[in-house]
Amino acid sequence: MNLVQTLTDLRYALAGHRNWAFVPTMGNLHAGHLALVHHAKRHGLPVVASIFVNRLQFAAHEDFDQYPRTLVADCALLAQAGCDLVFAPSEADLYPQPQTCKVHPAPELADILEGHFRPGFFVGVCTVVMKLFACIQPAVAVFGKKDYQQLLVIRHMVAQLALPIEIEGVDTLRAQEGLALSSRNRYLSPTQLQHATTLHQTLQTLSARVVAHPNELEMAQADALAHLTQQGWQPDYICIRRRANLQVPAAHETAGTWVALAAARLGSTRLIDNIEC
Ligand code: PAF
Repeated sequence: MNLVQTLTDLRYALAGHRNWAFVPTMGNLHAGHLALVHHAKRHGLPVVASIFVNRLQFAAHEDFDQYPRTLVADCALLAQAGCDLVFAPSEADLYPQPQTCKVHPAPELADILEGHFRPGFFVGVCTVVMKLFACIQPAVAVFGKKDYQQLLVIRHMVAQLALPIEIEGVDTLRAQEGLALSSRNRYLSPTQLQHATTLHQTLQTLSARVVAHPNELEMAQADALAHLTQQGWQPDYICIRRRANLQVPAAHETAGTWVALAAARLGSTRLIDNIEC
C-alpha cells in the first residue's frame, strides 16, 4: 500500500489507473471503516482511502483539536484490509488558502436534524468531499449508513452536480449489544460505554412501536425522547423520518420506508445512530 501526503504525489500515484473506488475518512479507524474498504474492494477496482480531519465541518466548540490522529495505526489497518492507496494530506495542502468557495447542500435536506443542531456541518462535509472527489475522481465512493443524513446529502449533491460517481452506503457495524461503532466511542468511560447501548435499544423500541402502531408516531417519538432523558442522555432528537428525503411521514403512511434517527449526548460525548424501519 502506498501512502501519499501531497496533491502532487496523489496525482502521480493515481495516474496508473483510470477508475478508483474511494473511501473518505477522518482517520482513527475502526472495524466500521474497514467494512467500507471491504465493500469498496468488491468492485474489483483499486481502492483509495483518504484520512483528513476536516476543520470545516467542526464548530468552534466541537472536538476538532481533540479528534484522535492515529495515522500510523490507521495505515496498518488499511493495508491489512487491502487498501491500495492512502491520501492523508496536511491542512496546508488541502486548504492552501482559506476555503471561501464552499458547497452549500440543499437546505431541505441539510438544515434539518444534524444540520439544525450543527449549523454549517454539511457545508463543511460537502466542501471537503467535493474537493476530495475533484482530486481523486473516483468511479465509486463508499460511505457508512451510520451517518445516514450525510449519505443522503452526498447522494443529492452528486446527483445535482451530475458527478459521474456511484455513491454506495454500507450498513452500520455494531459492538456487542448494538452500540454503533464510532471513533467518538473512545471518549466514553468504561461505564458510559456499557450504558451507551441504551441509545440503540431506544431506537429499536421506537422502531418496533411505530411499525406496529404507525398512528402513534408522535407519541412514540415523545416517549423515546423522554426515555433517553431518563436514561441520563441529553438528546438533540430522536424521530422517525422518510428514508428517501428525511421529511416527516404523512399521517396515512406506514413503516417500511422509514428510518429512526437519534443524536444525544452522554456526558460530553455526542453520538448518533439510526435504524431503518
Ligand atoms: O464521515 C466522515 O468521516 C466525514 O464526514 C467525511 C465524509 C470523511 C468528510 O470529512
